[in-house]
Amino acid sequence: MTTVGQEQEQEQPTRPALEMVGVRKVYKMGDEEVVALDHATLMIGADEVVALLGPSGSGKTTLCSIAGGLLAPTAGSVVVGGQDITGYNAKRLAKFRQETVGFVFQSVNLVPFLTARENLLVVDQLGRRTGKAARDRADQLLEELGLADRRDNLPSQLSGGQRQRVAIGRSLMNEPLLVLFDEPTSALDTELGEQVMELIRTEMKSRGTAAVVVTHDERIVHYTDRTMHIVDGVLHA
Ligand SMILES: Nc1ncnc2c1ncn2[C@@H]1O[C@H](COP(=O)(O)OP(=O)(O)O)[C@@H](O)[C@H]1O
Ligand SMILES: [Mg+2]
Repeated sequence: MTTVGQEQEQEQPTRPALEMVGVRKVYKMGDEEVVALDHATLMIGADEVVALLGPSGSGKTTLCSIAGGLLAPTAGSVVVGGQDITGYNAKRLAKFRQETVGFVFQSVNLVPFLTARENLLVVDQLGRRTGKAARDRADQLLEELGLADRRDNLPSQLSGGQRQRVAIGRSLMNEPLLVLFDEPTSALDTELGEQVMELIRTEMKSRGTAAVVVTHDERIVHYTDRTMHIVDGVLHA
């Protein structure tokens, strides 16, 4: 598949994975307004793994949701892999999310009545891979994540760490250029949390995929290339 544009002809695409400029998000609740994010300007390199560290309520989930096209900013611009998604309507955003980004949430959100493998294949039914290619990719990811022998287990038959690994596999199914991890380790104990972080780092680095890892846990920063801090909706490099 070829894409028009001179930049695409370079062997190594060097476009940043994420560029946000002056992003502001105001939530309206009745008469009240909450400024969840303000003047957020940041750049994440094509293969950078960055921690976003901040206390509860500081705007971390809001920032991730905007970066991943789940939420529209009130002001400012969002460009992902050179694609300016700022003015996208719901339909284009859905397509963008399907093709370009991956999400891993704290709550994991696996489909309870599907096996580990089927949870990976769900993405595919929404996306572009079909049939054998998708099954092969799911199996390869499960293998890499140390879940080959858990392929046919339901989420309820998996440990918390294993479920989180399935969620990581699912986020990688569509070969995203940016994966957004929202507190991926907060439901895990220290040792499991460190294993999952190690895995996230290895998986991102081996693919050259960029990631934002949201956390309020200082220990996470040892696994990332760089840390951004957020306090009361304001980013500090
Ligand atoms: N849907 C919403 N409606 C109103 N306020 C919200 C909504 N989502 C988040 N907020 C508020 O925005 C601020 C940032 O929230 P959030 O991005 O979830 O922070 P974090 O993920 O760091 O805990 C908080 O004050 C929160 O209460
Ligand atoms: Mg949050």
